[in-house]
Amino acid sequence: MLPLLATLALALAMISRAPMQASALAAGEANNITSLMGTWSTGTAKVSTGIDFYNPVNTSFTIPATAGQSYSFTDDGYWEEALYIYTANPAKPSCVSASLFWQHGTWQLNGNNSLTLTPFNGDGRQLTEDRCSSTSTTSAYYYQPEYMLGFDITLDTHFGRPEYRLQLYAFDGALKPVMWQTYNPPQMLPTELLVETIYGTTS
Ligand SMILES: *[C@@H]1O[C@H](CO)[C@@H](O)[C@H](O)[C@H]1NC(C)=O
Ligand SMILES: *[C@@H]1O[C@H](CO)[C@@H](O)[C@H](O)[C@H]1NC(C)=O
Ligand SMILES: *[C@@H]1O[C@H](CO)[C@@H](O)[C@H](O)[C@H]1NC(C)=O
Repeated sequence: MLPLLATLALALAMISRAPMQASALAAGEANNITSLMGTWSTGTAKVSTGIDFYNPVNTSFTIPATAGQSYSFTDDGYWEEALYIYTANPAKPSCVSASLFWQHGTWQLNGNNSLTLTPFNGDGRQLTEDRCSSTSTTSAYYYQPEYMLGFDITLDTHFGRPEYRLQLYAFDGALKPVMWQTYNPPQMLPTELLVETIYGTTS
C-alpha cells in the first residue's frame, strides 16, 4: 500500500510540474549551453551579417551566391540581421524573385525565453529583384521589429565538425531555419544608428 501511494504521489507531482514548465517558457529550452553572442548563419554561411552583405555608405547590397539567413548578437544587447530569400511566382515558375533584407538594432531576452528585436529606425534596407523584370531596382527603407517566441543553442555536428547550433522560434512558434555559429566575436557593422553617423540626418 505504501509503495503504491508513494508512486502515485510521485506521478501526481510530475503531472503537476509539467504544465508549469510549459507555461514558464514560451518556446525553446532555457539551458542554452552558450550565449547568443556571435554571428550565426544557415547552411554554408554564404549569407553573413556585416559589410560583405550590406554597405551603408552607398546603401548597396552584395548579392550572395545562394539564399540564406544570418543573425548576429552581442552580449551587450545589439543585434544585426541579413536575409536573402527567394520567392517563386506561382503564375510564372521561372520568374523567381529574390529579396534582400538588412537591419540592426537592440535585442532583449525576456523572462520567458522569448526575444524582442528592435531595429534602429532609419537604417534598415530591402531590395527585391525580379528575374523576369527589366526594371532596375533600388533599395528601399525597411523597418520590421521582430519577436521570437524562444531559442535554444546546442552543440551539434555540422560538416563533420562540432559547432554551436541555434534554433530560433518565430513569433508563432514556427521553427526558423537552423543557423550555425560562424564567428565569435560577431562580424557586424557598427552597433549604432548609421544614417545619423554617415549623413548627419535621419531622412
Ligand atoms: C513572454 O514575455 C514577453 C515580454 O514580457 C511578453 O510580451 C509575451 O507575451 C510573453 N509570451 C508568452 C507566450 O508568455
Ligand atoms: C544563455 O543565453 C543568455 C542570453 O544570451 C546568456 O545571458 C546566458 O549566459 C546563456 N547561458 C549560458 C550557460 O551561456
Ligand atoms: C558601394 O561601395 C562599395 C565600396 O566602395 C563598392 O564596392 C560598390 O560597388 C558600391 N556600390 C554601388 C551600387 O555604388
